[in-house]
Amino acid sequence: MSKRQSKVKTSMPTRRAKSQMFELLPKSKRSRIIGVRTYKANCLNNKINAYKSLKPGEDNTDFGHILMAELDGYDGPVIIKVSDINLFLKREKMGLSAIEGFPHHAKIICDFTCNDNKTRWMKSLVSPTQLCIGNEPLHFFVMEYIANGDLEKYIRGLTDPQQLRSIIAQIIYCFVELGQKYKIYHGDIHSGNILIDTTDDAFSKHIVNGEEILVKTFGRVPKIIDFGRCGVFNAEPIDAEIVFELNSALWVCLHYIEDTHIKDKLNSITLRPETEFSSVKSFIEEVLDAFA
Ligand SMILES: Nc1ncnc2c1ncn2[C@@H]1O[C@H](COP(=O)(O)OP(=O)(O)O)[C@@H](O)[C@H]1O
Ligand SMILES: [Mg+2]
Repeated sequence: MSKRQSKVKTSMPTRRAKSQMFELLPKSKRSRIIGVRTYKANCLNNKINAYKSLKPGEDNTDFGHILMAELDGYDGPVIIKVSDINLFLKREKMGLSAIEGFPHHAKIICDFTCNDNKTRWMKSLVSPTQLCIGNEPLHFFVMEYIANGDLEKYIRGLTDPQQLRSIIAQIIYCFVELGQKYKIYHGDIHSGNILIDTTDDAFSKHIVNGEEILVKTFGRVPKIIDFGRCGVFNAEPIDAEIVFELNSALWVCLHYIEDTHIKDKLNSITLRPETEFSSVKSFIEEVLDAFA
């Protein structure tokens, strides 16, 4: 059983997605979700009820509504990201396809397009609401809920420098891996797009410059979300391109660090142009030195 399906309690539907993450399915009588196109990885019986808004949509070109929902047969709440069929969606799908297997993303349970009404998602929900009732094509990503809030919340409450070092190192390694292994850049790094998950694993494993690195987790791992502004590298990325993202990630962490000694040291790194760092390795070494 794959990781993506590990929380599923009931048996799988008979029609399974094959190797591709997003498989276009024919309309099914059994499925409540119908519409212009139905994609399915594993949406169980498609019985989903949204019951709370985390972020209501706004009427601009970047429409997106984040919902808490319950999915029949799934243990615990799920998050649904509703969006227009637009360029950001195209990028997000491309990004999610590219990072398949990346363990530091909120796991996608399924995603599909169906007809719904955007106006229904412009305001906060007050009662459980069914999806896919309307006549406009909208896209829905259903994913696991990461319950511990975002990076800002976590770093602001941290007093132990070793835990701070752990989360910063893990975040930096994640963005190195996105570049080196998955050949993409995220393009929208901020606290709201780095969520903090709990883990029972004592160590988190990363591959950086071909070497395996284990980081003590202290029970927390970052989950990178929202690939709506990502891009793929057409060729093998050069180190300066990756360091550009690492700089952004470090810059985000910096805002919330209270230890002035560590903050000053890290600040001196982010203030320098990424081209000044001869390699990803030298950037990482300087970051880790701040905790020496
Ligand atoms: N899987 C998730 N678990 C918990 N909260 C989430 C999840 N996905 C999104 N959120 C919350 O919703 C916010 C917006 O989601 P995001 O995918 O970044 O959409 P947008 O494109 O609108 O920025 C996040 O900053 C986070 O607070
Ligand atoms: Mg976001």
